Amino acid sequence: MSKNNDELFKNVTGHAKEYGFVFQSSEIYDGLSAVYDYGQLGAELKNNLKTYWWKSMVQMNENIVGIDSAIFMHPKIWKASGHVDGFADPMIDNKDSKKRYRADNLIEDKIARYEKDGKTDKAAKLQADMDEALNADDLPRLKVLIEEHEIVCPVSGTRNWTEVRQFNLMFSTQMGAMAEGSDEVYLRPETAQGIFVNFLNVQKSGRMKIPFGIAQIGKAFRNEVIARQFIMRMREFEQMEMQFFVRPGTEMEWYKHWKDARLKWHLAIGTPAEKYRYHDHVKLAHYANAAVDIEFEFPFGFKEVEGIHSRTDFDLSQHQQFSGKKMQYFDNELNEEGKPYGNYIPYVIETSIGLDRLFLLTLCNAYEEQDLSTDEKQDSRTVLKLHPTLAPIKAAVLPLTKKDGLPEKAREIMDKLKLDFNMQYDEKDSIGKRYRRQDAIGTPFCITIDHQTLEDHTVTIRHRDSMDQERVAASELDQIIGKLVSWKNLLN
Ligand code: GAP
Repeated sequence: MSKNNDELFKNVTGHAKEYGFVFQSSEIYDGLSAVYDYGQLGAELKNNLKTYWWKSMVQMNENIVGIDSAIFMHPKIWKASGHVDGFADPMIDNKDSKKRYRADNLIEDKIARYEKDGKTDKAAKLQADMDEALNADDLPRLKVLIEEHEIVCPVSGTRNWTEVRQFNLMFSTQMGAMAEGSDEVYLRPETAQGIFVNFLNVQKSGRMKIPFGIAQIGKAFRNEVIARQFIMRMREFEQMEMQFFVRPGTEMEWYKHWKDARLKWHLAIGTPAEKYRYHDHVKLAHYANAAVDIEFEFPFGFKEVEGIHSRTDFDLSQHQQFSGKKMQYFDNELNEEGKPYGNYIPYVIETSIGLDRLFLLTLCNAYEEQDLSTDEKQDSRTVLKLHPTLAPIKAAVLPLTKKDGLPEKAREIMDKLKLDFNMQYDEKDSIGKRYRRQDAIGTPFCITIDHQTLEDHTVTIRHRDSMDQERVAASELDQIIGKLVSWKNLLN
């Protein structure tokens, strides 16, 4: 069953809604743009992805600890970090449709059209011109490119554009009971700053020695000019970030370490290696001395999922300057070596992954439409080949029929297993239909209770991917399932 990528992506997003993974936020009010809710299975899968990240960062590394800092922070933090003055995208409005666009997105779409039409030279030239304008923050030049290439508004079809302006992506609100006289605060656009400002709290209370890391998972908010590709670019999303504090001068060694370690982490889920690639940043942010993205090949092309940045001592130095508090680390070991610089502001390697993008990647990678037709009959199934440890439901308990005491026996088995695993019980419809329902939500194992179970206390386990069945003792189920869904299978 060969589908083009657009259709495939449409089917994945349709599947996510149909089976309770992701819903549009406020759907009965016609939705809220670029905001999504996770349904009953989506919440489970998302939690499992978080657990995988947390365990591999915090549990597996003795020198990394996790925190949970507040979304609201002192507004000066965002001044110090550069977000108040510099966290912006170039936007342009069409005066006829009143629609707002990111100027670089409009140009990118034009480049894609040139490529589709075989005009590769024109595409390359426009790409180079746009990169140059973006690197120089030359907004008038972006407008000129839009005009020169006769880019029209996708809604009105006209070229009646405003000037290109910078649009700050931070959401703000008022803190305090009265709007008047209360302070403007921001919804954090990244979780990282909550780590930086707690650097000394954690270091001192946890007696941490450099090199060490602080990890956190949490919501971030960005007023994205344009929402794109389902949960790929959202206005409210979740990040999993880790800041690793190192001695100045050793940062490149650690940058390489985390670059390798993070790709290995992605591959452990079972995603084919050719679906990933590194994208080294040519133009570095003012605070970075090296930066790379890990990109995944979504149905709509290779896109960033995670960034690894060598952030130097920029953030801690800025907070030292803006807060007036010392952000230095006293390196006892250097002192013992007789070196004169025991006190320094550490350098930082950051790993930052978007949980929602990881979720989308996992769904796209797991989704398969299979043709199972034989000479005798037409058949097909949609299956989510999720890693068993990450699957929302670990196993389903299915009595073959609704009579002869099979449901009672199945319930007995279900009640025992649900103490350890997230399970589903299902006795409705034919056994074939029930297997298909579990395939569609990625349940790796189906446990069927039949008449033989009543005689010898054995059951069948059906494996989702191979559809093979094996007969095992009911008393051993918790051990068998436990081994198959163990975190050990991912964390080695
Ligand atoms: N602290 C560094 C930082 O925030 P970033 O590249 O802006 O770096 C890191 O974001 C990751 O967060 C991205 O690789 C992406 O996975 C995710 N992300 C960023 N903006 C997002 C959005 N609007 N919607 C969903 N995920 C987003």
